[in-house]
Amino acid sequence: MSDHAPHAQNITNSHLLVQEFDYREAASVEEAVALLGEYGGRARLLAGGTDLMVMMKMERVTPAAVVNINKIPGLAEIKADPRDGSLHIGALATIHTLHNHPLVQSGYPGLAEACASFGSTQVEAMGTLGGNLCNGSPAADTAPVLLVLGAQLVLAGPLGRRILPVEKFFLKPGKTALQPDEMLTEIILPAPAPGSTTVFLKAARVAADLAKASLAILFARQGTTITAARIAMGSVAPTPIRLERAEALLAGQAYTPELAAEAGRIVSEDISPIDDNRSTAWYRRRIASAMTQDGLAAAWERAGESRAAPAADFPSNGHRTLAPTSEVRAGERKEIELHVNGRKARVWVAPNELLLNVLRERLELTGTKYACGIGECSACTVQIDGKPMLSCLVLAVSAVGKEIVTVEGLADPGTGALDRVQEAFIDSTAFQCGYCTPGLLMTTKSLLAEIPQPSEDQVRQYLRGNICRCTGYASIVRAVLDAAEKVTGRPE
Ligand SMILES: Cc1cc2nc3c(=O)[nH]c(=O)nc-3n(C[C@H](O)[C@H](O)[C@H](O)COP(=O)(O)OP(=O)(O)OC[C@H]3O[C@@H](n4cnc5c(N)ncnc54)[C@H](O)[C@@H]3O)c2cc1C
Ligand code: FES
Ligand code: FES
Repeated sequence: MSDHAPHAQNITNSHLLVQEFDYREAASVEEAVALLGEYGGRARLLAGGTDLMVMMKMERVTPAAVVNINKIPGLAEIKADPRDGSLHIGALATIHTLHNHPLVQSGYPGLAEACASFGSTQVEAMGTLGGNLCNGSPAADTAPVLLVLGAQLVLAGPLGRRILPVEKFFLKPGKTALQPDEMLTEIILPAPAPGSTTVFLKAARVAADLAKASLAILFARQGTTITAARIAMGSVAPTPIRLERAEALLAGQAYTPELAAEAGRIVSEDISPIDDNRSTAWYRRRIASAMTQDGLAAAWERAGESRAAPAADFPSNGHRTLAPTSEVRAGERKEIELHVNGRKARVWVAPNELLLNVLRERLELTGTKYACGIGECSACTVQIDGKPMLSCLVLAVSAVGKEIVTVEGLADPGTGALDRVQEAFIDSTAFQCGYCTPGLLMTTKSLLAEIPQPSEDQVRQYLRGNICRCTGYASIVRAVLDAAEKVTGRPE
């Protein structure tokens, strides 16, 4: 039975998750697969929740159960295999980790670029590579890069594991080759061939938006000859696609702008774009040609550069193993303990209650604001285990065992003295409105914890999901740089 509801257009209140479902936690891959089987195809796995929670709020999917896989040990690891140089990425590796990972940046720069292009730091910190692929969107930004890299996907089901090439994974919008009782556990990237590189380009309406069109190129050159070229695009067909006719044109040729223009013309012929709310088919064909030419020029140049050897292995991201498995059934409530601003709070919650509602309505921490409710404005940002996350997309029951900090937790609990970030914002008169400022402060706290001395560009990039068009940005950037100086430059 399909879990797609027919009446999505009737649902308008993105502040609530109205549907009821069982909340289950899996402690192992086998348990997750068994739970998928138990619900006969009507359960959904919860990774970062940045697609699933939005789809559920919109009632585009109405699963009978949500199975949280974040407590399965090892699923967020990123490891190089010394035997063949391949990179093994756990399905729960976050987009933010991949964006900053030295092995990804050095060996697979196109993947790092694709991850850096995601809507906001918060979406990067919550969203996972596995979720990006399994959502099955033609606009998934990591998909074109994985296609040109020839990634292999490890899928676990009741009969064991199978390996599927990524080009066989995407079937149609929202539909992948995953069986209802299967989960993706790992993505394997082959070792980069000597002299090869990857490039990713994206055209979007604004930073916090999905692609009108995206493009990835894998390119190898020897002297002036192109020895290998693979091209893939997203958002220009029902699934992310390879452009093999253009690839065949390039192989064995000397690179020239005229050759790149011809490849661009072929690409624009071979895609099958549609008109939708992000773009028109006409524009997508035009931009596909231009992106191909830009991408080939960039790849040609990058393939000629010598790149640093991959750094040593790097630890994984913030998905850590937590408390024992738990569950809350649809219609039931359960008493949970949340750790908020250094204190313990016990609250009764149903599976469909969001952390933001619990913080605001039960714990009276109304500094965290509700605005869009679907991940786009970042007004609801809190820190969860030190990472900036969107509390409007987090199930309260999934936050057990995590350290949550809200804007009320920034001031010194003993003296009430404001945090230096708050002081710096006051000193620079760096305010957005009352809805946006708390989220901005929380994201700035995470930024300075992660990058104590950020450059101006890093500040703008990290805060891109919070900065609202209503206000001047210069004073905000100045305040963050001042706060950085206060934190790291001057002793107390
Ligand atoms: C404001 C905003 C901006 C965004 N910007 C971008 C963007 O720029 N580019 C982009 O590509 N995407 C973007 N997204 C979409 C989303 O953030 C990404 O697709 C993200 O990587 C999804 O990962 P997740 O862990 O949050 O997935 P979830 O929401 O947890 O899961 C998504 C789907 O995959 C299934 N699933 C998850 N993990 C597995 C697994 N291991 N095995 C089997 N099934 C699984 C879930 O059941 C669900 O159906 C944006 C979303 C928002 C809200
Ligand atoms: S209210 Fe959460 S991102 Fe807008
Ligand atoms: S809506 Fe808050 S500053 Fe624009």
